[in-house]
Amino acid sequence: MSRAFDACERARAIATASNARCDRRASHRARVASHRAATTSRDADKGAEKFVPGTLGWGRRRGSIDPRVDGDVLEDARAHGYCVYTHADWAHAYVSADGEHAYESACAFGAAPEELRGGTLYRIGPGLFEREKEYAHMLDGDGLALRFRFSSDGASVAFTSRFVRTREFAEEDAAGKVLYRGTFGTMREGGMLNNAFDLHTKNLANTNIVRWGGRVLALYEAGQPVEVDAETLATKGVDDLGGRLEPGQYFTLGLPEPIGSTIERSAGLGGRAFTAHPHIDSNTGYLVGWGWKSRITAKAVEISLWEWDEDWREMGRRDYVMEGCEAAPHDFGVTEKWYVMIQNRLSIDPLPFLVGAKGAGECLISQPQEPLLVHLIPRSTQTPNVAKPVEPVIAEGPRESFEIHVALAHDGPPLSRGETTSEDLENWVTVYTAGWDKLSPGVFLGEWGSSDPWPFPVPTELSPDFNNIPRTLLWMYEINAVTGEVKRQPAPGCEDLCIDHPHVSPLFEGKRACRYVYASLSNEVRVSGPPLGYVRIDLKTGELQKWYASNRSFCEEPVIVPKANGANEDDAWLIGLIADHSRENPAGISRVVVLDCADIAAGPVCSIPLRNRIPHGLHGMFVGRE
Ligand SMILES: [Fe+2]
Repeated sequence: MSRAFDACERARAIATASNARCDRRASHRARVASHRAATTSRDADKGAEKFVPGTLGWGRRRGSIDPRVDGDVLEDARAHGYCVYTHADWAHAYVSADGEHAYESACAFGAAPEELRGGTLYRIGPGLFEREKEYAHMLDGDGLALRFRFSSDGASVAFTSRFVRTREFAEEDAAGKVLYRGTFGTMREGGMLNNAFDLHTKNLANTNIVRWGGRVLALYEAGQPVEVDAETLATKGVDDLGGRLEPGQYFTLGLPEPIGSTIERSAGLGGRAFTAHPHIDSNTGYLVGWGWKSRITAKAVEISLWEWDEDWREMGRRDYVMEGCEAAPHDFGVTEKWYVMIQNRLSIDPLPFLVGAKGAGECLISQPQEPLLVHLIPRSTQTPNVAKPVEPVIAEGPRESFEIHVALAHDGPPLSRGETTSEDLENWVTVYTAGWDKLSPGVFLGEWGSSDPWPFPVPTELSPDFNNIPRTLLWMYEINAVTGEVKRQPAPGCEDLCIDHPHVSPLFEGKRACRYVYASLSNEVRVSGPPLGYVRIDLKTGELQKWYASNRSFCEEPVIVPKANGANEDDAWLIGLIADHSRENPAGISRVVVLDCADIAAGPVCSIPLRNRIPHGLHGMFVGRE
């Protein structure tokens, strides 16, 4: 069966006869009809083995639909949820931005709701992927900051996009070529001879953008924050957070003292990077973030967690050393009592990086045989009536796993457990994460850069082939801070979903009462695929509200904005950024959409088209009218 499908896909690549195209369409329709007859409802058959894409009729290899011959399938809304898409569209996700922009765009339908009017959505992601030659990895793309200012009448958006002009970006821009090594393998021309023992990697400023205390910071976890102008997005420069982040690369080699640290500093090492995922804790109203440096030879990561009020006054600090850790976590959680960090099991083989053969990120080696470690670190700030722990807790989690994003962390058992005791509230901690359902041994992210040829032309090889990537789903961790017991299972209702970039209402960050998680949604057939819609997950009941944009639309991270004086948690808006592809515009065009969090399935209440296709971005935040 599988060989037959493979042969069919290869045949598609070279077939030109129109009758063959008609036959294929008829065949597809027959298979779709057959599948529909067998399964009257996706939801009724969740978890059934038959829901693997190979049984759907459009080939075993996901994304291999040729839009030139099978466009009908791509436009069939009945296929929503089945991971039906084409890599011919998705390949445009990491085509470089067509320059920087500043223009006004009107709503195509609806109007921006009151809570958004006069407010600003900031987003960021990799936006430039070549200088003379294509970069080695899409995550090496230079940061492109986006600003969407909603008009006071809700009828339009003022859109601005600017590259984050770090020192390295400016130098490379002037030279017109790569001058610095990227984390994931982008190198200067000249091979190893021209890259060996240069341990400086470029601050890409491409992962998150936050506005806090009047400053807008572009964040990259292997570098320091870069401040940009809140209105123009013009780059102001590196922000060391009041001297808390020492300059230099974010690692030390452990050269012997008394002169070891002096030598390392003179070599540009021993600096401290800042997480790309600070959180605004709704219990205190503080921004919580952390700086880190890796002691490579000691296999430990030094972490300093800070909490700031809105005037950037330091309200608390906690220093912590993650022993046996070689790569800092990407995200973390904050409860009333704990900072929660999940340590993925990755080791580093530094030699290829040192000799200029690989980027630092390419030297990460997966250790699926080792259990994840959950670190509960006592918070530094005091909340009234909450007894704070004194000692950290390290608990072993599952093996063969990798966690990426933290949707929510809170003290006490999960909401779905119902009424609880004061003892359980005291002892248990719950964390919802977006993570992979498997971790293969070998080079971490190694599969992201490889792909078999596609049966259609693609504009770049950088967009990852989802056939090579594990599924990401929403996990629910329960950690007993007394016994060290860790339980993990899919969050309620999420067994079949592929999701990422989960978020909760900012009013509920860190609270057990939090009931809804919002995420970008790929499919409901337990496979890895691009985000084609949005989902609301009810953590109490497992009920899902789903909306798919189309099989040819890719949906970025949702940003949640509470309504003014809302009585319910889901009195909020979801702002999305979507890239639509079509027969008329195969290269894609982006739009901003607004959905009502109380009725995600109803789709957008407002859509604002842009004039460009924005490269697929990462994270951002909304700032209300000031
Ligand atoms: Fe992230």
